[in-house]
Amino acid sequence: MSWKRSENQANSEPLKPLIERGKMSARIKGLSDLQTLVSLCKQRGFVFQSSEVYGGLNSCWDYGPLGSQFKLNVKLSWWKAMTRRPDIVGLDAAILMHPTVWRASGHVDGFTDPLVDCRDCKNRFRADQAESKDGKLICPSCGSQNVTEPRNFNLMFKTHMGPVEDEGSVVFLRPETAQGIFVNFENVQTSTRKKLPFGIAQIGKSFRNEITPGNFTFRTREFEQMEMQYFVKPGTDEGWFEEWKKTRWDYYLRLGFNEQKLRFKPHGPGELAHYAKAAFDVQYEFPFGWQELEGIHNRSDFDLSQHQKFSGKKLEYFDEVAKEKFIPYVIETAVGCDRLALALLCDAYREESLAQEDEAESSGGADVRVVLGLKPELAPIKVAFLPLSKKPALQELAGRLRNEAAQKWNVDLDEAASIGKRYRRQDEIGTPFCVTVDFQTLEDNEVTVRHRDSMKQVRVSIDQVMAYLDKQLNIF
Ligand code: GAP
Repeated sequence: MSWKRSENQANSEPLKPLIERGKMSARIKGLSDLQTLVSLCKQRGFVFQSSEVYGGLNSCWDYGPLGSQFKLNVKLSWWKAMTRRPDIVGLDAAILMHPTVWRASGHVDGFTDPLVDCRDCKNRFRADQAESKDGKLICPSCGSQNVTEPRNFNLMFKTHMGPVEDEGSVVFLRPETAQGIFVNFENVQTSTRKKLPFGIAQIGKSFRNEITPGNFTFRTREFEQMEMQYFVKPGTDEGWFEEWKKTRWDYYLRLGFNEQKLRFKPHGPGELAHYAKAAFDVQYEFPFGWQELEGIHNRSDFDLSQHQKFSGKKLEYFDEVAKEKFIPYVIETAVGCDRLALALLCDAYREESLAQEDEAESSGGADVRVVLGLKPELAPIKVAFLPLSKKPALQELAGRLRNEAAQKWNVDLDEAASIGKRYRRQDEIGTPFCVTVDFQTLEDNEVTVRHRDSMKQVRVSIDQVMAYLDKQLNIF
């Protein structure tokens, strides 16, 4: 246990006012395997397996109390980055859309993965992700080459609208949010009177019947996307494509990502989606390797032209200055919210081995603390209020401070266990600040504010503490 004094001794002196971290010799280790994070997420209420009491449902996940708040913070960071710009507006379109949308968009014919069955172990896998030898695919599960020819498998989930389950009632769960934006292009443009270039941003669920979901929340069949379609004049699209690459890179750095773990990866001609003229992925180095986090696409006028053709409605833009009509080009930025949340957790996770002489919270000897070094803006809980003991006066004061802080932020009141254990618990869920109410507080009206990353502790007067936290949290 990590606090040097027992709670019973604590009534004579305040918590140590300041711990010099300059002398700290913490050894820091990042996340090396996904399973460690999966366990933390379950134990601390970030993510649970869906329908766990029934044995779970493959690749479906539920966000718990901390996870749902964290994911909301991730969405808010994206929403603010997009819609606080003067040239971007928001949209929230329905998941179910007219079935012709998906014929026009190319998803009915083209949104397929090549599926292969292993005749020996019955595993199903994607032909484009498997290795081959002498021109024959190798089953990634058992290594057999006794496999079927690839056949195209459409990834869209089908369902029926209304009580009759016939061909005429088929609708699809959207596989991307983007189409809701394209079919609303004219509604949004005329209602907002936006001039090109302008963008439409949307956050919402998408569904894909993935052949090989996995790696926790990285690839699932139900997930949330955060997509922005930026409509531009043809001919300016390549410049805007470069501009958006830069803007999105800066966003990731602002979220606190380790830049060494981010990179751009261009799509080669054979890798481009059916709608794309050019594409770059932003990749993150997950514990299971470099993988796509976000796709940035130049979709040209593909989607609006297709919807114009299939709907018979003009989806042109009239440029009042040049006095000309044209179908705008679209630069798209598309990131999975669950995938971004996972990347942020992987990036923020660290284990610090603390040396004895450096850590006033340690019980002596080497001590490992797990920290989620999330930016305050993203942390599910911003401040935890900790009464040092169960003495009613301390609890009452901590409760009062908690209620005051809750008007501004998501906060916690943690009264159970020793103070060191409570600090560790808050470190593990990424809480940037703990405010400890101790016996001295009753005499001098000061509390101890403990910083998550430096473990620095400062005494702050009660009437200044909210302003102090506000400044330190610096939430945009
Ligand atoms: N509208 C373009 C589009 O949907 P995408 O590259 O297929 O492009 C965009 O998807 C992002 O959505 C991906 O970069 C990824 O972050 C997320 N995503 C896609 N499929 C996913 C899945 N099965 N599970 C979780 N996230 C997924």
